[in-house]
Amino acid sequence: MTERKILLLYKSKYGSTRKYAQMLKAKLPCEAVDLDAQRVPDLAPYDAVVLAGALYASDIAGIGVLRKHYGRVADKKLAILCVGASPYEEEAFSQMKARNLKQDLKDIPVFYARGAWDEDKMTLKDKILCKMLEKHIKSRDPATYEPWMKAFAEAMGQHRDWVDEDYLQPLIDYLKDS
Ligand SMILES: Cc1cc2nc3c(=O)[nH]c(=O)nc-3n(C[C@H](O)[C@H](O)[C@H](O)COP(=O)(O)O)c2cc1C
Repeated sequence: MTERKILLLYKSKYGSTRKYAQMLKAKLPCEAVDLDAQRVPDLAPYDAVVLAGALYASDIAGIGVLRKHYGRVADKKLAILCVGASPYEEEAFSQMKARNLKQDLKDIPVFYARGAWDEDKMTLKDKILCKMLEKHIKSRDPATYEPWMKAFAEAMGQHRDWVDEDYLQPLIDYLKDS
């Protein structure tokens, strides 16, 4: 069987999604395109398209690009890789998918990889947003924390990096599968 031609579109603000894009490229031949620096190429030659985007306030970075070009990729093998700081939790993941993937996009398989957390690297706007979240979380009883709140409370003020290529295996298996 000839190898599937894969296009990997990625969007990364602080670098962890970029690291996953590089790891994926090293494991599986693909064309990696940084959506912040490059234009979306002609999609016709590709058999599969993967969007890798970090989660910011539960929104998948770059999802708008997939929505915009959906008409030209609908017949291809599609996948989304979300990168977030929270540990994987099924209920929260389902809610995040329902929020981001509406109508045509709703059946695209979504994979998860844990990224990093470093407040020192954040933009002022993100720092302010995190401060607001911190205030909101601290006003609650820890026994009622949702998983992302627990992870946020633990990560606050810390430098954490959970990037691990093992997270990519389910996506790699899916892309290799006919
Ligand atoms: C403003 C802001 C909002 C975030 N929201 C979420 C979130 O909703 N869920 C989550 O799991 N991680 C969230 N994160 C953590 C990022 O997804 C995480 O740091 C990720 O590794 C960033 O990827 P990047 O390095 O490719 O930009 C947020 C980070 C920031 C700065």
